[in-house]
Amino acid sequence: MPVVELEHPGRGIARLRIHRPDARNALNQEVRQLLGEHFAALSADGSVRAIILTGGDKYFAAGADIKAMAEAGAIDIMLRNTHLLWRTIAACPKPVIAAVNGYAWGGGCELAMHADMIVAGEGASFCQPEIKVGIMPGAGGTQRLTRAIGKFAAMKMLLTGLPMSAREALAAGLASEVVADELVQARALELAELIAAMPPLAVMQIKEVLLAGQDASLDTALMLERKAFQLLFASRDQKEGMQAFLEKRKPDFTGQ
Ligand code: CAA
Repeated sequence: MPVVELEHPGRGIARLRIHRPDARNALNQEVRQLLGEHFAALSADGSVRAIILTGGDKYFAAGADIKAMAEAGAIDIMLRNTHLLWRTIAACPKPVIAAVNGYAWGGGCELAMHADMIVAGEGASFCQPEIKVGIMPGAGGTQRLTRAIGKFAAMKMLLTGLPMSAREALAAGLASEVVADELVQARALELAELIAAMPPLAVMQIKEVLLAGQDASLDTALMLERKAFQLLFASRDQKEGMQAFLEKRKPDFTGQ
């Protein structure tokens, strides 16, 4: 089995599963490379409407692979250019749901934060323990975490390396839902199916505007929202969605 497997669990849905159980799904360069390649391909695949990102039933990912970093120098780390691989995930225009069981630690927590929704199992934990091995997060942990849960909760996680349980993560805003461990995959699939049945252009515009707006002034973000809202009136799916409502029937969205 490859260290990242692509599965097609339903119509319009792709699932990427990290599989390095002996290393608690730690992210080595091969995993990052494959994730980057898959995300680039899925972003360009018109038949894909939602993506599930998971580490399977036991571990999401216990961070960057420490064995592959322990002896590295600053230039080695720089030349790995991992930010280019992460960027492909961040730039994915399709909705991404992280299905998290077990550890989402270090780079694993950062990976989950690249997703648009996080479904966590009761036994999942989120942690940025980099400080304990002498470094700090390098794939968005200081920034996406702070945007998600605010300064004081983020500082606590980052400076102490203490884990957060799934329930705490939900309360803090680091998870969308918490379900029983054995229901994580099914619930993520259910949500992906729900989104995959929505008009894809509206889905993409919502994702793009929400993310871009987070880094803009309120005025600029509201303008982005307004422009995208107006643009959707050029879509066939807007006509279909509203007509179906008026005719009291189910809409048939085609992505046009
Ligand atoms: N890198 C490399 N190997 C890892 C790993 C990691 N991040 N996490 C676990 N492993 C390996 C262990 O070395 C061990 O391998 P061996 O059997 O060859 O000894 C195997 O996975 C099982 O690990 P444990 O016995 O420790 O399993 P556990 O269930 O008792 O504990 C754990 C799990 C709490 C996650 C613990 O493994 C742990 O603390 N891992 C390190 C977590 C960490 O520090 N992550 C941050 C990494 S730095 C980073 O991510 C930088 C960044 O932001 C980009």
